[in-house]
Amino acid sequence: MKKIIITIDGWSSCGKSTLAKQLAKKLGYVYIDSGAMYRAITLFFLRNHINWSDKLAVTAALKSIVIDFEYNENSRQSEILLNDENVEYLIRDLVVAEKVSEVATIKEVRDFAVAQQQKMGEKKGIVMDGRDIGTTVFPNAEFKIFMTADITTRVERRFKEMVEKNPNVTFEEVKKNLEMRDYIDSNREISPLKKAEDAIELDNTSLTMEQQLAFALKLAKEKMGQ
Ligand code: DC
Repeated sequence: MKKIIITIDGWSSCGKSTLAKQLAKKLGYVYIDSGAMYRAITLFFLRNHINWSDKLAVTAALKSIVIDFEYNENSRQSEILLNDENVEYLIRDLVVAEKVSEVATIKEVRDFAVAQQQKMGEKKGIVMDGRDIGTTVFPNAEFKIFMTADITTRVERRFKEMVEKNPNVTFEEVKKNLEMRDYIDSNREISPLKKAEDAIELDNTSLTMEQQLAFALKLAKEKMGQ
């Protein structure tokens, strides 16, 4: 069976990572969360008070950042390490979510992240989710999915997830954050979020997780020549 690259792009909180993890598990592929890389870089910038409108400061800061992923036996998922510290949970905080889209517009940041993402795909057999994976990172990927879902459904899903960790978070805050990120991510100059011409659109507003997995798995297997 042919090893391929599967890319999943789409709007914030439309279930990309859920589908990507399930697909990777079923196929025995490696799942890579590219958004976690931008979030980890943002966390580093916030902690170290980096002025990210200053190109030189950004370039210098990026030299001090090493990002890795490691498999956690307990959570049974791959988690992100920032300079050897596991920051998988910290990067999901609203403080990071409020700034990540802005940081992700910076050319130096994108070049840094994209180079690592491309390296991770050299041997294929990966599922990577993000915003520009099918357009910029792997334009020749064998199977590309572009996910959408209506905004109310997306806010409800993300709110549920966030309120479990932080009971003070409000529905309005989450909605505003998603709308802001969608706007910045799809209007930025470099690699804006958009559907690759050869991507398959998957609107999961009224699909169950099982239905969306079955849909994607069938197509993935066809691309793998099974
Ligand atoms: O997938 P996520 O919500 O964790 O991503 C966080 C932010 O990172 C998102 O708002 C935009 C940015 N991002 C990006 O610019 N390119 C990617 N490939 C992945 C994420």
